[in-house]
Amino acid sequence: MCGIIGYNGNENSIPLVLEGIKNLEYRGYDSFGCAFEGKDNNIEVRKDTGRINKIIETYGISSEISNKSIAHTRWATHGGVTKANSHPLLDCSGKIAVVHNGIIENFQELKDSLKNHTFSSDTDTEVLPHLIEEEMKNGKSFEDAVISTSEKIKGFSSFVVMNSLTDNIIAVKNGSPLVLGVKENGVFVASDVPSFLKHTNKVVYLFDGDVISVGKSGFKVLKSNNFGKHKVREVNFSISDVDKGKYRHFMLKEIMEQQTLVSKLVNSDLSYLKSAASAVSLSKKVFLVGSGSSFHVALLAASLFRDLGREAIAVQPQDLLNYSKTIGKEDIFIIISQSGETMDIIESLPIIKENKKIGIINTEGSSLANSVDYFININAGHEKGVAATKTFTMSAILSCLIAMFSEGEEKEGLNDLNLLNINLYNLFVPSVYNAIKEAASAIKGEKNLFFLGRGTDYISAMEAALKMKEITYIHAEAIDSATFKHGPLALISKGTYSVALVSDRFKDREINNLKEIKARNGKIIGIANEKLDVFDFLIRSQPAGIFSFVPQVIISQLLSYYVSLSKHIDPDHPRNLAKAVTTK
Ligand code: AGP
Repeated sequence: MCGIIGYNGNENSIPLVLEGIKNLEYRGYDSFGCAFEGKDNNIEVRKDTGRINKIIETYGISSEISNKSIAHTRWATHGGVTKANSHPLLDCSGKIAVVHNGIIENFQELKDSLKNHTFSSDTDTEVLPHLIEEEMKNGKSFEDAVISTSEKIKGFSSFVVMNSLTDNIIAVKNGSPLVLGVKENGVFVASDVPSFLKHTNKVVYLFDGDVISVGKSGFKVLKSNNFGKHKVREVNFSISDVDKGKYRHFMLKEIMEQQTLVSKLVNSDLSYLKSAASAVSLSKKVFLVGSGSSFHVALLAASLFRDLGREAIAVQPQDLLNYSKTIGKEDIFIIISQSGETMDIIESLPIIKENKKIGIINTEGSSLANSVDYFININAGHEKGVAATKTFTMSAILSCLIAMFSEGEEKEGLNDLNLLNINLYNLFVPSVYNAIKEAASAIKGEKNLFFLGRGTDYISAMEAALKMKEITYIHAEAIDSATFKHGPLALISKGTYSVALVSDRFKDREINNLKEIKARNGKIIGIANEKLDVFDFLIRSQPAGIFSFVPQVIISQLLSYYVSLSKHIDPDHPRNLAKAVTTK
């Protein structure tokens, strides 16, 4: 995915889009670019590979002045990470500039049709300015040229176009997110709200199929399937979501926020979960769908549903087709997604179009939030670290609460939530941080790490291993402790490190498996509520009933974070990754 922003207004747009695009860096960070109005009706472009600050400094963009500009931060899909492939991309005349988020599936065919045009990149995006140029050559206005270009492209794509000869910029939304930020004397269009939140909290979420003209003092809907619905509304995001505050990294800030988020949830009115829970209780089977960390949430909640006696299946979206013949009309789907943009899920929606859908999603106005019957806002605040931390925890808690509410176990669910809240105070204490740091220093040089657990502890282990891979580049693998003896035990030799997640429920059997590792001189770091003989090292977790995975996962997030620091990796921006995965 990529991040895009544009501003048209009475102020100097350049510092506004530069500040905005830095806030969008979580969406991609392999190259960056900006286009603004230069002298003599020219468009000036500054772009390069690398991180935004470096490019701003190298090209002195901050000293430029222009009332309208667009900017882009890229996560490469079509075409390598090169300066030429960075956005904005221009037409032959240099008067039309485009920034784009998405994939143009028929770009080759379109490129072949633009015979007399000179292309300067390997990107799919570059067909956009040339198509617009071509349409205008054929007599269309700028607005009509953008509309007909948007109708020619296939696939999910949102883009913003600037034309040096017109006063407006034009935004097209299809699939990838776009939202307007409306100020008194200017309008933003961007991939998300926090990118312009310092300047306005008045927003308009755009719909797929929208083509919008962004003027200096307002916007005009040029084309839409939702005319009349573009209402300006105020969002209650917090400015603190945009800053790291006192923390060195967003990831650490987001890990630390989990305690407050749980305590807020305990003290909030949870009746909004009830209609989703009743829909579940009227259903036959529950399917839970998610990718990556959100799939781990699906696994945790599915396991709880089954414990409570309801048939539940956690599925990764790419596997949904395989289940299609087993899905009945009375089955309900719970879709879990931080971004609401994960393409694998969006693509699988036609398979479940007849079914009721609950979305546990952190991004209001996102494609998935707009596609479900019951939208449950994860309400974790903006998460910028690429690794899911607070959104994992909060979506898992909400999914489990829906399970408890739907099966008549509301009181028990709330009791465990209370216990979690209390015990998180015992988790965030210096002795635990010290133990985590010590363990991090012991494992930082490892090439391989095993995360072990049984039952739901194994699901926590999967999440712990994913975090470790993502931000430390250590090959970390989660293995069900019961499975270890069926083969993986061969990997253990003297000094091989395993991290065992042991909650009270699975402790007795787990100890037997861990002894088999000790007998081969393997080393074990235990994340558990008490010291066990098999551990070389203990990081003390806390009991929390059905939510015991929360302290375990928080410890493992911190463990990965400190390993990442000791390896001089920026945990907010691990290599090759982007926050939302909008590719197939
Ligand atoms: C988790 O740390 C990852 N960044 C990734 O696995 C993520 O959970 C996955 O891509 C799903 O994203 P979503 O929740 O936005 O749908």
